Amino acid sequence: MLILGLQGSPRKGGNTDTLLAAFLEKAGQAGAAVKTIQVARAGIVPCKGCGYCETHGTCVIADDPMSMELFGLLRQADLVVAATPVYFYGISAQLKVLIDRCQTLWSRKYIYKLKDPLAATRKGVLFSVAASEGRQLFDGIHLTAKYFFDAIDAQFSHALTYRGVESKGAIRRQESLAADIDGTIQKTVLPLLRRKTVLFISPTGACRAPMAAAVAQGRFGDRIRTGYAALRPASELSAAMILSMQQAGVDMGYRTPQAIEQALKGSTPDLTVAIGNGIDNLPLPGKQTVKWPLPELLSPDEAAIDGLRLAIETQLDALMETFE
Ligand SMILES: Cc1cc2nc3c(=O)[nH]c(=O)nc-3n(C[C@H](O)[C@H](O)[C@H](O)COP(=O)(O)O)c2cc1C
Repeated sequence: MLILGLQGSPRKGGNTDTLLAAFLEKAGQAGAAVKTIQVARAGIVPCKGCGYCETHGTCVIADDPMSMELFGLLRQADLVVAATPVYFYGISAQLKVLIDRCQTLWSRKYIYKLKDPLAATRKGVLFSVAASEGRQLFDGIHLTAKYFFDAIDAQFSHALTYRGVESKGAIRRQESLAADIDGTIQKTVLPLLRRKTVLFISPTGACRAPMAAAVAQGRFGDRIRTGYAALRPASELSAAMILSMQQAGVDMGYRTPQAIEQALKGSTPDLTVAIGNGIDNLPLPGKQTVKWPLPELLSPDEAAIDGLRLAIETQLDALMETFE
C-alpha cells in the first residue's frame, strides 16, 4: 500500500511541505509505505502539447523523470496526495507541470479505453494553503484536482485547505491541524490498509505474476491489494502479455518486473502465490503460501496468452472462495 505525496511548493520546509510531511508521517505510522516527490526539484519537462500521447499512448518526452519514474509511481500508488500553495488563485506552476504531463494517462484512459488495475480503489487527496482569506481561494484548485485525479484513475476523496497561512511554519498554528490529519488517515488510509495483501511470484516476473496481480486487483480490489515479484526479474514485462491485457481493456503500461524485496517494501504479505515449477521449494515470504502450477508459455502467441488469462481467472475464483 503506497501513498505518493506530490509536494508542489518550491519553498523547502514551507507550509505545504510541513502539512504533507505531517500527514505522511502519521500514514507511515499506520502502516503505509510513503514516498514524497519534491516536484519543484524533480526536473519534469513541461508538456509540449504535441498530441503524441493521443496517437501513441506514451509521452514523446521519454527521457525525463516523468516518463522514467513518475508515471510508474502514479500507477503503483493507492493514494495520491496533491499538495500545493495557492498561487494567484491556482495551483503552483511546478505542480501544474506534472499534472499537464498526465495528459498521457488521460489519453490511455479516454482514447485507448484502458483501465488501470487500481482504478476502482485508488484515492486522491488535495492539500492546499493560502495567505489571504478570499472566499473563492480554492475553487480553481479544486477543479484542477478533480480532473487530475480523474485522469490518473483516482477518486477525489478529501481536501484539507487552510486560509491565512503565509509565513514559513504558519500552518503549525492551525488549531484543527492534528484532528484534520487524523480524520484524513481514518477516512482515506485505514480502509485501504485493511485489505489483505497478496503477492504473486513467478521466476522472471514478466508475464504470469504481473498478469495474475492485475487480474486479481481488478476483480477483488476491495478485499485485497496485490503485488507481483520475480526470483530473477526480467528487464521488462512481456509484450505479448501487455497486448493481451490491453485487448481486455487493462492497462499494464508503466510497470516493470520487480525483485521480491522491492515488491515487499518491508512488509509481509498475507498470502504468497508461487506460480510455476520449482519456485515452491524455495523459502517464500508470506503468512500463507499456495502454489499455482501454471506452466511457462514457451511460445507466447495470442491464443496461449488468452488461455493463461482464463486459467488465472479460474484459479483466482477458487482461491478467493476460501481466502478470508
Ligand atoms: C507567486 C505567489 C503567488 C501567491 N498567490 C496567492 C494568492 O493568490 N492568494 C493567497 O491567498 N496567497 C497567495 N500566495 C501566498 C501563498 O499561498 C502562501 O504564502 C502559502 O502559505 C505558501 O505556501 P508554502 O509555504 O508551502 O510555499 C502567493 C505566494 C506566491 C509566492
